[in-house]
Amino acid sequence: MLPDVSQKKHYVREKFSRVTRRYDLVNTLGSLGLDHFWRWRTVRELKRYPGPILDLCAGTLTLTQEIVRQRPRMVMALDLTYEMLSFGAHRLKRHPACPFIFCIQGDAERLPFRDASFYAATVAFGIRNLAHLEEGLREVWRVLKPGGKFVILEFSRPRNPLFAPVYRVYLSKFMPFLGGKLTGDREAYEYLARSIAAFLPPQGVERLLKATGFEGVYSFPLTLGVVTVYAAFKPRRAR
Ligand SMILES: C[S@@+](CC[C@H](N)C(=O)[O-])C[C@H]1O[C@@H](n2cnc3c(N)ncnc32)[C@H](O)[C@@H]1O
Repeated sequence: MLPDVSQKKHYVREKFSRVTRRYDLVNTLGSLGLDHFWRWRTVRELKRYPGPILDLCAGTLTLTQEIVRQRPRMVMALDLTYEMLSFGAHRLKRHPACPFIFCIQGDAERLPFRDASFYAATVAFGIRNLAHLEEGLREVWRVLKPGGKFVILEFSRPRNPLFAPVYRVYLSKFMPFLGGKLTGDREAYEYLARSIAAFLPPQGVERLLKATGFEGVYSFPLTLGVVTVYAAFKPRRAR
């Protein structure tokens, strides 16, 4: 079962604060290192955009770090879970990317920024966790400058008839086993599998982006559709 919408924020924060220390390790082991490629490919979509860039649901700042690595520029990293952000900030304390990164604990559904503040915004593995996705998308639209780009990386469900059943077992059995062993919270990784199974298909995400007012929406799958990258633009004529 997935948490009720009214409980979701609390549930998600509680889960992420428990798995923080081993979160990156489980990601990298569970994806056989592919998570680095997925983030690299996502950030490449933002290469020509200067700072400030907004990284939503930034967690332990792995995507944030990649944004600065590909092109040094100011990045505002926002997350609901204090433990995730502070773990990431501590990890990067002496890193050359550190001076470019500003962390803020906050809610992606009620962003503490003025309209038209950012040239681009991005979110990796975060939109699936929002309690009210439409509100999150509306907020991104609001804080982007006209012509600004929004890029999303999110899990999707592979459709290849040979690979899909194998992946389903991997996600629902192996990931809870691995995550449970490494973090002590098996349920957090059962939630991962359930939330991926319940999430919108790529056409549904694209439809929501368009309904929010984004234009030029496109998406492409990576690794047989294990993840999908989405991109969309705030129209230049928008305010
Ligand atoms: C799966 S992690 C992704 C972290 C990071 N982006 C990455 O690539 O590894 C999802 C993050 O979303 C955050 N989150 C969930 N709901 C949120 C919300 N409403 N506002 C801001 N962050 C949220 C969680 O705290 C968690 O750190």
